[in-house]
Amino acid sequence: MRHATGDHAPAASGYDAELQRHNQVLRRAARIRPHDHVLDIGCGSGQTTREAARRARAGSALGVDVSEPAVRRARELARAEGLRNVTFEQADAQAHRFQQERFDLVISRFGTMFFDDPVTAFANVGQALRPAGRLVMMVWQSRERNAWDVAIRRSLGAAEEPAAGGTEGPDPFSLGDPPAVREILHASGFADVAFTDVHERVYYGPDVAAALAWVRGFTCTSAILKGMDPAAARRAVEDLRVALAAHLGDDGVWFDSRAWIVTARRAATD
Ligand SMILES: C[S@@+](CC[C@H](N)C(=O)[O-])C[C@H]1O[C@@H](n2cnc3c(N)ncnc32)[C@H](O)[C@@H]1O
Repeated sequence: MRHATGDHAPAASGYDAELQRHNQVLRRAARIRPHDHVLDIGCGSGQTTREAARRARAGSALGVDVSEPAVRRARELARAEGLRNVTFEQADAQAHRFQQERFDLVISRFGTMFFDDPVTAFANVGQALRPAGRLVMMVWQSRERNAWDVAIRRSLGAAEEPAAGGTEGPDPFSLGDPPAVREILHASGFADVAFTDVHERVYYGPDVAAALAWVRGFTCTSAILKGMDPAAARRAVEDLRVALAAHLGDDGVWFDSRAWIVTARRAATD
């Protein structure tokens, strides 16, 4: 199986492997130039930040994530790769005091859907961009357009829509509706908002056992299983195994998915 790697990056695993096709799309859309200063929001373990740093060889990349273990891992990986123009900060991007007008480009791979107050958060991130600086983020389209979520929920016998404020945590599909996202970004000081449809598959592992282990780690899966009695949970896991097996091909377990690349520019200030 071919893993999508960045320039000289090691083979991907975990979430990087799951999103290997999406990553290529984001990389092309970001069009990072050698002198760019890049901010990566919700960077996780930092694959996209490290790739940005390699591209911006005369510039820099900063990854921020609210998760301390993710930032620790991101730093370890960057150190192991010998990158000198990349840094990571543990920070809530909604409120963090970024250096004003420092960055040419803000990127994010599925790291911007979890803000409590998206207008405040994007306004805060926008102030870190120089005027006319670009935002390029990847977000999931709506839940029903994502076969992976539909299949997982169906096989676990869960409701098609989780209850608002329930145990499944923040909504990964919160930026799936273009008119709503356009409104959020305009209210946050962005202009030229555009959407590109991304129809790519997600990768869950080389075989059914690996895919099941991976999907059982999803917040939604574990929350749904935790709410069941042990016998029902065992049956649900068996049904999930069958659903994953139905998606096993020669190169592993893959599911259809739909995302948006959302691009925008920091609006000029008078
Ligand atoms: C789906 S993961 C994506 C991680 C990474 N971008 C990647 O593609 O590997 C979402 C990430 O956003 C981070 N996150 C959520 N809310 C955040 C916030 N308010 N500020 C910074 N990071 C946040 C989470 O901790 C998590 O690492």
